[in-house]
Parts: sequence; structure tokens; C-alpha cells
Amino acid sequence: MVRPRVIALDGPSAAGKGTLARRLAEHYDLAHLDTGSLYRAVGRRILRDGRDPKDTKYAAEVAASLQPVDLTDPELRSEATSQSSSIVAAIPAVRANLLAWQREFAKNPPPGKQGVILDGRDIGTVICPDADVKLFVTASLEARAERRFRELQAAGANPIRRAVLDEMASRDKRDSERATAPLLPAPGAFVLDTSALDVDAAFDSIVAFIESTTRPRRA
Ligand code: DC
Repeated sequence: MVRPRVIALDGPSAAGKGTLARRLAEHYDLAHLDTGSLYRAVGRRILRDGRDPKDTKYAAEVAASLQPVDLTDPELRSEATSQSSSIVAAIPAVRANLLAWQREFAKNPPPGKQGVILDGRDIGTVICPDADVKLFVTASLEARAERRFRELQAAGANPIRRAVLDEMASRDKRDSERATAPLLPAPGAFVLDTSALDVDAAFDSIVAFIESTTRPRRA
């Protein structure tokens, strides 16, 4: 089996990145970093402090002083946090203040792990441009909105289908059109559209790609 040291996994929200990253981490024994949770933690702390996510100076300060406990906030996955995180993610100083931490994780995996997988929006393009494997997992807006709608329903919420789609479209637009590190497949990335694939099929297709392109690494 090949043993990639760094896997970069990018794509829009609800394309299946999180589930695939966890499965790949297990399969290849890698440490996993969900980089979206860093932006979510910044966005959430700003809301909790009653501040405006568009306040660039304050957002940059929060990003510079992020604490591990901020990543455990129970509101990290709420819709309000999603929108706020997407706003702060467009602020260059916020991205700059989160960059070193992500690169450090990639360079020095936590004890017991020989490699890492980072998932996000700019991992293959900005954070780890030298990654052994670059993946871009996407799906149509409709397919992703439907997945998110069902997730919310399964969690006991009472979502409105149209609102879920509109909110996702506005976040996609902001994440893709921002000037700094917009959502883009890295050059040479394996692009996988999961609109019509279940998780097992998507996972198998990524593993087949990795096995066909990555050189074995000596332990
Ligand atoms: O993956 P997610 O939905 O948890 O990400 C939350 C927000 O953070 C998303 O709107 C875009 C931003 N983000 C980013 O700009 N760069 C990353 N590497 C990860 C997330």
C-alpha cells in the first residue's frame, strides 16, 4: 500500500470532504485537520462577543488568539456560524494568522502519525502546495443543498429547503469570488464530482487514484 505523507483535500461545503477525509485518515493512518473548523471558531467567537464579522481588525485579532477550546464550541456548525466564518475567511489578515498553524500541523504531525490530511478550500493551492496528493471533491449545488437539508432534518431541525439552498449559494459565491485564496482546484488535482456517488463509491475512486499515482514511501 502507498503511504502518502500529505493529502490536500479541497472543495465546497457539503461535497462530502469531511466524511472522506476521516475515512482516508483511517485508511492511511494519517492525522486529520478540518481547517474549516478554524474559520468557524473565529466566526463563532466574533458572534459570541457581539461583534461584526466584517470588522477586519477585530477578526484578525481573534484569529491570532484562537484557543483549542474555541474549536469545541457547540455552535460551531450552526448556520449563523457558517455565514460568519465565510465572511471572516475572506479577510486576508485572518487567513494569514491561521496559515502558520496549518503548515506546522502538516510539517509535524501529532505524535504517532507519519502523515496528515487537511481538508478545506485552499490546502492544495496555498497551505500545502507540495502535497503528495491533491484532491478536489465537488458536487452540484442542488445535490449539496439536499444533503445539508437531510442532515438538518436528521438532527431534529425543521429546515426550509429553499433557504438551505440559498444560504449555500451565497456562501459558495463568497468562498469562490474572494480575492485571497478563493476556492479553486489546485493544478494537477484529482477532481471528483460526487453528485451521483455515495460515500463508498467516492472513497474507492479516490483510493484508486492515490494508488495509481503515489510512489510507495519507506517507513
Ligand atoms: O468547510 P466549512 O464549511 O466548515 O468551512 C467554513 C468556512 O470557512 C467556509 O465558508 C470557507 C472557509 N474556509 C476557508 O476559507 N478555507 C479553508 N481552508 C477552510 C474553510
